[in-house]
Amino acid sequence: MISETKIDAAVRGIFGSIAFPAEPARLYDPLRYMISIGGKRLRPRLCLTSYALFKDDFPEDIVEPVRALEVYHSFTLIHDDIMDKSPLRRGCETVWKKWNPDIAILSGDVMLTDAFRRAASAPVNVREKALSLFTRTAAEVCEGQQYDMDFESADEVSMSAYEKMIGLKTAALLACSSGMGAILADAPEAACKALYDYGWNIGMAFQVEDDYLDAFGDEKVFGKPIGGDIVNAKKSWLTVRAGEKTTDKAAFLKAFSAPAGTAEEKAAKISAVKDIYLELGVDKDAVAAIKDYSAKAMEAVEGIGLGPVRLESLRRFAAALIGRVR
Ligand code: IPE
Ligand code: IPE
Ligand code: MG
Ligand code: MG
Ligand code: MG
Repeated sequence: MISETKIDAAVRGIFGSIAFPAEPARLYDPLRYMISIGGKRLRPRLCLTSYALFKDDFPEDIVEPVRALEVYHSFTLIHDDIMDKSPLRRGCETVWKKWNPDIAILSGDVMLTDAFRRAASAPVNVREKALSLFTRTAAEVCEGQQYDMDFESADEVSMSAYEKMIGLKTAALLACSSGMGAILADAPEAACKALYDYGWNIGMAFQVEDDYLDAFGDEKVFGKPIGGDIVNAKKSWLTVRAGEKTTDKAAFLKAFSAPAGTAEEKAAKISAVKDIYLELGVDKDAVAAIKDYSAKAMEAVEGIGLGPVRLESLRRFAAALIGRVR
């Protein structure tokens, strides 16, 4: 087993030394930019945490597939920010704002191919499994993002449809990350599956928390504009839950579809929708749902004989996400 301190050091090393081609600069600069402005590196950390359960050191030949997870994730953010019209990411200007949407599309495209190139250099004994998981996941994220956009124009979205959507757009990549760690370690099939399920539930908790922080977080810490989902009338866990609980659907829909063109309108809409969330107590429901998913994550790995020390490292990873502020 490998310690948390060593995992942290490995993540720092792996991204401190990542490189992209020099030219054309306007194609590759956004890739360098996205990696250099930070991010929590949650997916590579999750992958290494899972790998660390089975091995005693990190060999050089797993570095590129681990990088692939973060490069792929950062690519999805470049395109997501165009789709969500978001001006701020990781506390910095988004790529489409800093350059322009055309550059964000093309740099995103090349970032996706860069991620696949890295994933394809997984150790040969596990390469086919790793690539097959990575490919399936990349398609699932697109499916989730499409449902996410479809939901923007839907009056009502059921909780089960919403859960399916966030499963695809977010949980799939976290599941892929912990599953990939087990695959790279050539762990038994049952362990790969259990760690995949663990990551899936971690990912569900993570997206509910993201939705919560989008309304109730602190912009300086969260690094994204607070109220972005409300302003853009994006369905979030809070909206869907509020739709289930409200006794005055008309008033809720009116607040949620209010205009948000000017700064004053934006502020008024955010505050009106948040008031409804608080009145209905959906903020507390979200916190409960996050805890629930994180308990499910632990249930997924309890039956594979990991033993108390290894289980504790997975528990610590899950616990760190509950109540996160960024
Ligand atoms: C943002 O992911 C996108 C979601 C799935 C909510 P992160 O919150 O992991 O973003 P970074 O990488 O830390 O910026
Ligand atoms: C994230 O959904 C999903 C992907 C980027 C694939 P969001 O749209 O909620 O993510 P943020 O809030 O912009 O990071
Ligand atoms: Mg989005
Ligand atoms: Mg977004
Ligand atoms: Mg969000």
